[in-house]
Amino acid sequence: MKATELLKKQHREVKTLFGEAKKAKPTERRRVLDEIAEKLRAHMTIEEDIFYPAVREIGTKKAEEIVPEAYEEHHVVTLVLDELPDVDVDDERFEAKMTVLDELIEHHVEEEEDEMFKIAEKLGADRLTALGAEMASATNGDSPAPRRAK
Ligand SMILES: [Fe+2]
Ligand SMILES: [Fe+2]
Repeated sequence: MKATELLKKQHREVKTLFGEAKKAKPTERRRVLDEIAEKLRAHMTIEEDIFYPAVREIGTKKAEEIVPEAYEEHHVVTLVLDELPDVDVDDERFEAKMTVLDELIEHHVEEEEDEMFKIAEKLGADRLTALGAEMASATNGDSPAPRRAK
């Protein structure tokens, strides 16, 4: 599977989980949110370690602009994720944080899919498929990808 297809599939999974979290009873919310957090962290790790460096290598002005922005957006997502365990599910702030997180991710995913993934096509189908395989095995925990310099 091409890297961009794998990442899109993971975007859809997280979106579906946000839908579930909104409908879930407060007692269930924590569990769904934990699942969202786990999936998001794994997703951001493979993007940061494998996909973003490859896109940056393309070296166009647009690629060099969009990749650092994406790292910053991940940073903001991580800040919100880190706070969730400290907020009570019954607290109105929990729902507010969940909504903000969902919106942040929606915006970020739009930029990735509409802009970054288009740029990534320049890598060619073979390279994208190889990157997809590398990311799939890193997600499954078969072989942790080496941490690369940003
Ligand atoms: Fe991302
Ligand atoms: Fe993504």
